[in-house]
Amino acid sequence: MQHFISQFPGLVGQTVTIKGWAYNVRSSGSIAFLQIRDGSGFTQAVVAKTAVDEASWSAATDATIESAVEITGTVSAHPKQAGVFEVQATAVVLIQKAEEYPIGKKEHGPDFLLDQRHLWLRAPTQWAIQKVRNEVIYATYDWMRDHGFTKIDSPIFTPSACEGTTELFEIDYFGERKAYLSQSGQLYLEAAIGSVGRCFDFGPVFRAEKSKTRRHLIEFWMMDAEAAFVEHKENLEIQEQLVCCIVERVLKNCQAELKILERNQEPLKQVQAPFPRLTHAEAIAKLRTLGSDIGEMDDLGADDETLLTQQYDRPIFIEKYPAAVKAFYMKRDPNDPTRVLNADLLAPEGYGEIIGGSQREENYDALLERIREHKLPEEAFKWYLDLRKYGGVPHSGFGYGLERIVTWICGIHHVRETIPFPRLLNRLEP
Ligand code: 4AD
Ligand code: MG
Repeated sequence: MQHFISQFPGLVGQTVTIKGWAYNVRSSGSIAFLQIRDGSGFTQAVVAKTAVDEASWSAATDATIESAVEITGTVSAHPKQAGVFEVQATAVVLIQKAEEYPIGKKEHGPDFLLDQRHLWLRAPTQWAIQKVRNEVIYATYDWMRDHGFTKIDSPIFTPSACEGTTELFEIDYFGERKAYLSQSGQLYLEAAIGSVGRCFDFGPVFRAEKSKTRRHLIEFWMMDAEAAFVEHKENLEIQEQLVCCIVERVLKNCQAELKILERNQEPLKQVQAPFPRLTHAEAIAKLRTLGSDIGEMDDLGADDETLLTQQYDRPIFIEKYPAAVKAFYMKRDPNDPTRVLNADLLAPEGYGEIIGGSQREENYDALLERIREHKLPEEAFKWYLDLRKYGGVPHSGFGYGLERIVTWICGIHHVRETIPFPRLLNRLEP
């Protein structure tokens, strides 16, 4: 039977067979050490020449970096390092002998590594990031289901824009008309709440944004959530609880990964509700005391977000942005119609925006006016306006950027490492 390295703590003294890849190999006269990873974890196989037959010994000494191997042996606890396990090999099979591996132990630049992304994914740090990403995804699904949200799959081909027309990928739809790749499933979820009350989607979205910052991908994964009868304040509470759950789950289940990433876990342990809430006006005032020259009604730029979030040990909400810098569907603040009932959630330690959300305009006439103000094609939004005619209710929602969240939780610099195959302004390969 095939065993997995992750099961080793419960298998000490037992004979196992593992299949995986040798990520490091060294041998001296009578003993070989094969560092093995099998996807579930990492271990060392100790191959003593006297403990194996001739075929196994030559397999062990022939194995090159990234060769595929099968090891049979006894699991043992490392004599000095607690929590580390080895396998004392009794048989070694070389499944495929790897050619000279292009990724060495020396430092490589990001471009080289991204060119080798199909192989770089195997590096322990990249393995750890994908495992954290996986935990974030499962934590999200669990939390949403436990809180009454139904998964609704929104379409990827759409007839109109959700988040402004300047960042849309256009597609030729059978030579007959234009279609666009979805920027967010939000508008479709607003329809679905009329059926299921609370829902979420989770899928790839596309932004034809000519940005080359460490926060921007062209294709990324978004989780949109939408809930009927939820207003601005409760919308923030939902986000806060979800983010706390995600961080808690990663802290609980990804200790090995966070250690590989050398993530300082103290700031993650501070991620407890309630998160501080600042109005946009308060944020601007604070930024100015920190030396920013941001204007009173400006959107926060990446540098402003970095500056602001370096001041906090947990995520912060910035609420009530000027209507002029936000999307057409956001409901105006009844106390100040120049502003909207929205909030961006900014991650601490300089990471910045991870969630954008708002209460939605539920009034037919007000929404039609916004669509006209934004010069959006009215015809394409007819169905969206319909939702306000047939049982329109106060409702709110938000969307998180999976890669932004994973970047922050992993404590890494650039979003490009958090998606298996990043699509960037200057990169479509591999
Ligand atoms: O703030 P955004 O544009 O909001 C929306 O699309 C809403 N329709 C969501 C909703 O209310 N359902 O995007 C949401 C999040 C951002 O907060 C950010 O985390 C992420 O998506 N994001 C990006 N991540 C990586 N690369 C990009 N180019 C991103 N643009 C947005
Ligand atoms: Mg946003």
